[in-house]
Amino acid sequence: MPATLTVVVPCYNERDNVAPMVAALDKALAGITWEVVFVDDDSPDGTAAAARALASQDSRVRCIKRAGRRGLSSAVIEGALSSSAEYVAVIDGDMQHDETRLPLMLDAVRNGADMAVGSRHVQGGDASGLSSPLRVRLSETGIKLAQMMTRTSVSDPMSGFFLLRQELFEQLAGRLTGQGFKILLDLILAAPRRLNIAEIPYKFRPRAAGESKLDVLVLAQFAGLLIDKALHGLVPLRFISFALVGGVGVLINLAVLQLARAAGLEFTAAQTLGTIIAMVANFQLNNQLTYRAQRLKGTRAWRGLVLFLLVCSLGAYANIGIARALYAENGHGLASGAAGAAVGVVWNYAVSATLVWRLR
Ligand code: GDD
Ligand code: MN
Repeated sequence: MPATLTVVVPCYNERDNVAPMVAALDKALAGITWEVVFVDDDSPDGTAAAARALASQDSRVRCIKRAGRRGLSSAVIEGALSSSAEYVAVIDGDMQHDETRLPLMLDAVRNGADMAVGSRHVQGGDASGLSSPLRVRLSETGIKLAQMMTRTSVSDPMSGFFLLRQELFEQLAGRLTGQGFKILLDLILAAPRRLNIAEIPYKFRPRAAGESKLDVLVLAQFAGLLIDKALHGLVPLRFISFALVGGVGVLINLAVLQLARAAGLEFTAAQTLGTIIAMVANFQLNNQLTYRAQRLKGTRAWRGLVLFLLVCSLGAYANIGIARALYAENGHGLASGAAGAAVGVVWNYAVSATLVWRLR
């Protein structure tokens, strides 16, 4: 019988939790035809092998193994898109979520909710499984921030435990950032209309085995997601990153200027050298950070560098021209300079995004 419900389990180094998870699902989902998909990012502990060993005995178990990639959200997306079932549920692979709530969640969606979310913060829920007071604070702050900035009333928008129609997931999939841990928040924000969300209380349990993968990078990605939404996607995250890199470039420029002058170079030559070095450094930084996902390599990188230098030179030319014209008109040096610089950075960003790092 084909499955009605696909349970997607993102996992990284969860080998010892795989078999208990299947056993727990088997118990919790009696009466429902289900399958489970473990989405593993080539964990060194052999999680995928453990899942496949079970899959060879039980056709309800599948495993997607991804090579050279990491990420909770993107793993969930791949697992959910691999499903042909009518409903998809997402649950952590470390037994922290309470799988016995799944039938209730399925009922809620069958009865008209767009999504059922397992919540630690509604009556009957419990977040005591968080591993430390620091995690409790982080979690509370994150929830408040997320609620404020996204105007969602969901009590646990950071939950990684939810269920929805596969069709709805597929509709939203193209708009997801796929970054970091916050796949539920990402889904809520991607929806063109307000989703009707049923919250099902559950008790967040302590981790069964292994350790948490939440780290500083995950928090940075979360901050990025919130900044992006706070600006209503109007200011692309890429632009913010590009502008920050530009700020670093200014510092490099000034540092080189000082050093070169100290070494005896005259001002114009020292400033020219500083500018060129800053632009090359900016190219490198943008290529590594801002455009990480489409990084230029080999000869493409050299061609990109030359183009980038050209684009930025034109940007500088426009910057100076505009600042000079404004200054002649109103005599306000700082404001004129700032306006020129703003035009310059927008120009550099827009043109380099389309010419230098255009999506292949
Ligand atoms: N495939 C894959 N790739 N899975 C991952 C990755 C990854 O890069 N990183 C983490 N996972 C899996 C873990 O193996 C685990 O099954 C699940 O995602 C959650 O990761 P944990 O490391 O256990 O996260 P946590 O317990 O700190 O965070 C949980 O609580 C948060 C709310 O406080 C998760 O449920 C989050 O989704 C939730 O937002
Ligand atoms: Mn966990």
